[in-house]
Amino acid sequence: MSAKSMMVAGVMSGTSADGIDVAVVRITPGKLHPKHVLVAHEGFTYPVALRRAVLAAMNASATSTAELARLNWRLGLAYAEAVKETAGRHKIKLDLVGCHGQTLYHQARVESYLGRKFACTWQVGESQAIAAELGVPVASNFRPMDMLAGGQGAPLVPLFDYVFYADKKRGRVLQNIGGIANFSAIPADASPDAVVAFDSGPGNMIIDWMTHELFGKEFDRNGALAAAGTVIVPVLAEALRHPYYRIKPPKTAGREQFGREYAAQLLAACRKRSKSPNDALATATALTAETIVRSYKRFAHPRMKGCGVDFIVSGGGARNRTLMAMLAERLEPLNCTVTASGEHGLPVDAKEAAAFALLAWQTWNRLPGNVPSATGAKRAMILGQVSYA
Ligand SMILES: Nc1ncnc2c1ncn2[C@@H]1O[C@H](COP(=O)(O)OP(=O)(O)O)[C@@H](O)[C@H]1O
Ligand SMILES: [Mg+2]
Repeated sequence: MSAKSMMVAGVMSGTSADGIDVAVVRITPGKLHPKHVLVAHEGFTYPVALRRAVLAAMNASATSTAELARLNWRLGLAYAEAVKETAGRHKIKLDLVGCHGQTLYHQARVESYLGRKFACTWQVGESQAIAAELGVPVASNFRPMDMLAGGQGAPLVPLFDYVFYADKKRGRVLQNIGGIANFSAIPADASPDAVVAFDSGPGNMIIDWMTHELFGKEFDRNGALAAAGTVIVPVLAEALRHPYYRIKPPKTAGREQFGREYAAQLLAACRKRSKSPNDALATATALTAETIVRSYKRFAHPRMKGCGVDFIVSGGGARNRTLMAMLAERLEPLNCTVTASGEHGLPVDAKEAAAFALLAWQTWNRLPGNVPSATGAKRAMILGQVSYA
């Protein structure tokens, strides 16, 4: 392995389908783990028609092959443009790109199909188009190899979380709140295989859907609409009965569990009890907070050995003040200090993208990228593939 540092752009677009986050990280090989410095990050919202096409493809029970092929290509071009724009604005010469792609389907459970049983996943955004447009090699398609080793293909951020945040004295929880909420919990002075990481359930997904349905807006900016409502406690209690919350980790969730159908059911239940749309939104927000806290309490808190814990929140949900207040209120009694990731060196929109820069670097150097304790894989694997420019 060369001891040279590399400029690596990580590109992330999550289940919210709001757009593309790009983080450029300078990665230098280190003794135990590589060292990284965030050099730049930028966010790009999808053009309205592209977002609509992505959401339609995610929720589709029927679509055309041509539509999917075109969408794959079009997303590759969008990723290339986002990276080019970021590199241009910050005058950076890139060595490598790591692109997560847009998940159109993720089936973590083994199911029968045409005589064979398997789990499968599909992230689109033609990586060869990105490599060709930029003239830079692109690592992509990180999830399948973990699944082929018996893992859930997610979460893949724990390696980064461990390398960047593990602490000798304090427990660290890296809570990302994108469309789905997931965390990596790292006990003080722990080895990577002690990391507990999984999807707790919905992040912004239900909040976004309800905000759109009730207020015609894309999302509840700063949580202001939810702040004007009151949580409908019996509806929240009923929603918490969803079987997903009882499953032991490793586990992973997506629109398949917490998409339109679940959100619509929750809204219908809210409407039976209250006329106020703000109450419904407050209830959806409390569902996200409560499922995060319950997941932490049940599966991670007992491993924290009584140490103080920094509960570090990233993703768009960290900007939702109502949600953050709900988390702080519930977590502070558990010896957790809740902050946004910006206070720990990585802006809320940059963390996940930065993680994919590290994963690209691992792949480029033929090093494994998954943490088996997090995904449930039988072993650590080299993830994904490289498109050479
Ligand atoms: N100022 C804000 N106030 C409240 N919510 C926000 C704000 N900014 C972004 N969000 C939420 O964050 C979501 C995007 O988060 P992101 O981390 O990009 O998720 P994903 O990884 O799923 O794309 C938006 O859909 C929205 O719900
Ligand atoms: Mg996003």
